Amino acid sequence: MRFFKMSEIYKFPDSFSSSQFVRYINKNEIQGLVESLGHTIGQRYEKEELIVIGVLKGSSTFMADLIREIKNVKVLVDFVHLGGTNHTKDSPGTIRILKDIKLDIRDKHVLIVEEIIDSGRALKFLKQHLELSCPKSLQIVTLFDKPYKRTVDLTPDLIGKKIEDCFVVGYGLDLEEYGRNFTDVYFLKYPN
Ligand code: IMP
Ligand code: MG
Repeated sequence: MRFFKMSEIYKFPDSFSSSQFVRYINKNEIQGLVESLGHTIGQRYEKEELIVIGVLKGSSTFMADLIREIKNVKVLVDFVHLGGTNHTKDSPGTIRILKDIKLDIRDKHVLIVEEIIDSGRALKFLKQHLELSCPKSLQIVTLFDKPYKRTVDLTPDLIGKKIEDCFVVGYGLDLEEYGRNFTDVYFLKYPN
C-alpha cells in the first residue's frame, strides 16, 4: 500500500514530493461512505424527483459516484461554480457565482452536493441564492465536514465523514488544481 501512495505522486508537478502527502482515507472507505449516503438519499426521496446540484469543481468526482448509488429516485443533475474575490489575509472576500444552474428548481426537491465544508461561507451563500427560486425542499450532502472553523451558521443535512482540521487532497479535492484524480484522500503534511 505504501507503494500505491508513491505511485500517485506523478499526478503532481515535479516540485512536490511524496513525503508531503500522508494517506488519510483510502478508496474503499470512500466507496463505503458514498454507498451509505446514496442509500440514505434513496430512502429519503423514494419515488420522488430530485434535482442534485454539484458545486464545481471539487464535487464532480463525488457527484458522479453518488448519483449512481441513489436508487428508486428520479435524479436530475445540474452544477454551479462559485468563486471568491478580494480575498486577503484579513478578509475572506466576496463569494460570487461563476456559473449558475440551468434547471428550474421552483417547487422541486433539491440536494446540494459538496465534497467538503470548512468555514461554511460558500454553501451558506449558495443556499441563500437557491432559496430565492423557491424549491419545495433544499438540503445539503457533504462527503467530508471540517466543523472547526465555521464562521457562519451552516449545518449539512447529510455528512459522509467528519474529518480533522487539516488540508486534504484527492477524490476531487485539489491543491493548486492538482490531485483531483488521486483515488485515495491524503492530508498535506507541509506545504511545498
Ligand atoms: P468554505 O466556504 O470555507 O466552507 O469552503 C469550502 C470549499 O473550500 C470546499 O468546497 C473546497 O472547494 C475548499 N476546501 C476546503 N477545505 C479544503 C481542503 O482541505 N482541501 C481542498 N479544498 C478545500
Ligand atoms: Mg467545493
